[in-house]
Amino acid sequence: MSTAKLSLNGQEYEFPVIEGSEHEVAIDFTKLRAQTGAISYDPGYGNTGSCKSAITFIDGEKGILRYRGYPIEQLAEHSNFVEVCYLTIYGKLPSAAELAAFQKSLTYHTLIHEDMKKFFEGFPPTAHPMAIMSAMTVSLSAYYPDLLDPEVVDLNIARLLAKAKTLAAFAYKKSIGQPYIYPRNDLNYTEDFLHMMFAVPAEPYKVSPVIARALDLLLILHADHEQNCSTSTVRMVGSSQANLFASIASGISALWGPLHGGANQEVINMLEMIHRDGGDYKKYMDMAKDKESGFRLMGFGHRVYKNFDPRARILKKAADDVLDELGVNDPLLGIAKNLEEIALADSYFVERKLYPNVDFYSGIIYRALGIPTDMFTVMFVLGRMPGWIAQWKEMREDPATRINRPRQVYSGATERDYTPVTSR
Ligand code: ACO
Repeated sequence: MSTAKLSLNGQEYEFPVIEGSEHEVAIDFTKLRAQTGAISYDPGYGNTGSCKSAITFIDGEKGILRYRGYPIEQLAEHSNFVEVCYLTIYGKLPSAAELAAFQKSLTYHTLIHEDMKKFFEGFPPTAHPMAIMSAMTVSLSAYYPDLLDPEVVDLNIARLLAKAKTLAAFAYKKSIGQPYIYPRNDLNYTEDFLHMMFAVPAEPYKVSPVIARALDLLLILHADHEQNCSTSTVRMVGSSQANLFASIASGISALWGPLHGGANQEVINMLEMIHRDGGDYKKYMDMAKDKESGFRLMGFGHRVYKNFDPRARILKKAADDVLDELGVNDPLLGIAKNLEEIALADSYFVERKLYPNVDFYSGIIYRALGIPTDMFTVMFVLGRMPGWIAQWKEMREDPATRINRPRQVYSGATERDYTPVTSR
């Protein structure tokens, strides 16, 4: 094993170097403070490995994304979301019997406790569905005790995956004042979600196979993305041994921000704004380059991908196919493509390696499927659920897990004496 040498205040220290299965190199600083008295300073954690993980591999320079070793392109073309859930969580592709049992479990745990409907009633009609989603997810822990017994863990995992789509659809129905539509056991995962979203009691609802397949693809592409903001949050909260539902609810809150999962909603808001403004996308490109404007090209840039985001490539093609198949002519798609084209040739974006990310085209597909803008980030929650669960499970099962507790470099006042208010 090789080592890394650090020289600090004239003294030399050696630290082990570890290598991942794809040959990524890391200096093991576990003993850094104990040996040197110093800590590492890395705001935003861009250089910090917080764990070892066998779930997802990303090579941001080459635009590679694999779940459990399987390339995202192959999974997107040949797999389905439920199988990808199993794969990410349990580490292997299921046999036909395992897949059938897993599918059945996800089908038979979709109902939420009837009392929980009262929680929905308490929210104002204007409530953002992400607020409801996060609150409802943590509330599940009030109904399903968290035990370390692996069978209970598996049961709670199935419950969470199954109920998440019911919670999401109920949140939408609440926002538009329609009655909740109960899940159906004869439909698959995505079909059942679409049914709960769009059916009304007055007439039968037939799920479009084109829409169901497109949604399934979107969910697959979002299933995991290693140690991003929301996943690290799930691990951070889970490291205190908080239960599955509480840990995942915290991930949902982290995902909500516009720099993370909230970006898909922001992309559509931005494209609509450009459209209303006569489609003058060049003006917005200039604004994005002008730091004073405070405007960013939403759906562009990524902490990890520096050449292209493979998910964005798949979605760009899917946007064309889905809109074609559904006969939707969305002017926002044209604006998005124009923005992408000029950004990819513009030195500001080229120098900073800013490329379209997964959120750039996903919103256009969601719109074509009839999913309202407010629900886009909730769709991301459904997609990311297996990844969060897999990461939480891996963290809980890893004997090396300690409660996450970063350090800081204190930059505040040094010791000073308190003066009572009367003498100030
Ligand atoms: N538009 C214009 N300029 C940008 C953009 C953008 N979308 N993204 C980054 N930049 C510029 C920054 O101003 C900075 O310029 P500088 O070096 O001259 O100061 C440089 O590119 C690097 O940007 P950082 O913010 O330091 O990069 P970071 O890795 O911290 O942020 C992030 C990545 C948050 C994704 C950023 O690119 C961004 O805000 N993008 C828009 C929001 C978005 O699409 N988020 C979704 C991310 S994917 C996901 O969560 C699913």
